[in-house]
Amino acid sequence: MHLPFDGAISDFYENAAPDEVRHAIKDAKKDDILSEGYPYDNRMDKDAYQDQLEALQIELVKLQAHVKAHGTRIAVLFEGRDAAGKGGTIKRFRENLNPRVARVVALSKPSDREASQWYFQRYIPHLPSGGEMVFFDRSWYNRGVVEHVFDFCTPQERAHFFAQVPEFEEMLVDEGIHLVKLWLNVGRAEQLRRFLKRERDPLKQWKLSWIDVEGLKRWDAYTAAIRETFARSHSGPAPWTVIRSDDKRRARLAAIRAVLSGLDYAGKDTQVVAAPDPRICGGPEIWA
Ligand code: ADP
Ligand code: AMP
Ligand code: MLT
Repeated sequence: MHLPFDGAISDFYENAAPDEVRHAIKDAKKDDILSEGYPYDNRMDKDAYQDQLEALQIELVKLQAHVKAHGTRIAVLFEGRDAAGKGGTIKRFRENLNPRVARVVALSKPSDREASQWYFQRYIPHLPSGGEMVFFDRSWYNRGVVEHVFDFCTPQERAHFFAQVPEFEEMLVDEGIHLVKLWLNVGRAEQLRRFLKRERDPLKQWKLSWIDVEGLKRWDAYTAAIRETFARSHSGPAPWTVIRSDDKRRARLAAIRAVLSGLDYAGKDTQVVAAPDPRICGGPEIWA
């Protein structure tokens, strides 16, 4: 398959990436974690990961029964830079769940008609009904970050979004929707390593887009946009949970624990569910 930007990732890696990023990737062994300051040196052991994942997925099945029985409504937002692991984490949540109960919502860019509407409007039909858990693979936070970095919205539209988002989310929570906002944080070298892998892998190439390629040059613009987004939208009723996702395995376990630990359901195994690893999961203060 030939993509319009065929080879653009390796070209960036070879010719334009900051030296420290290129060296981190070049010198890395398979399981090395590339981000400096990440609290672990290696990826989590695969067997330990799989044991914990399975135990947590059993808890998710219990939660699903509870959600159906009580008409609970759960919305989990997954945000993060490109290749942060949003899709893969959502996949682990839903692996053993009923697709009618645990839906994924991954909207494409707004149509002309949607672009003429109130910004939040197109998300509203996708909010959970009773007995549903909805996983948003990207969300209304596009306006805070990617739309800003790529000038898909005006500064006025973004300011309007920031003015409305706390109240919008407070209404959801007040309405009884259980809202969880997860931010998956990936370092620059790890992001590039994942892109390089996607470029080579015929099963993963579809995940690469022009935004990813162009976004490589806009790392710092993203950083500023993300910082501002946290400052404007980390609220009491709708706080952000940040997960350091350079190790996908630890990140997926932490994400599931972050959701489960905030909910009560019959038969909850508190040994298994325990709070997410505080070394990689916390509030916006752990983001950098
Ligand atoms: P993803 O990372 O979800 O696979 P992309 O990296 O291609 O997708 O795009 C990132 C986000 O930017 C997506 O949510 C996409 O809908 C959004 N986007 C792309 N083009 C536009 C646009 N012209 N206006 C608004 N949003 C856009
Ligand atoms: P992936 O998560 O499949 O996109 O893989 C990204 C990189 O993570 C790979 O190049 C491997 O180095 C490493 N990796 C992924 N999955 C495994 C695994 N199951 N065991 C060991 N390493 C893995
Ligand atoms: C993923 O790894 O699934 C990403 O976060 C989605 C993307 O590439 O933007």
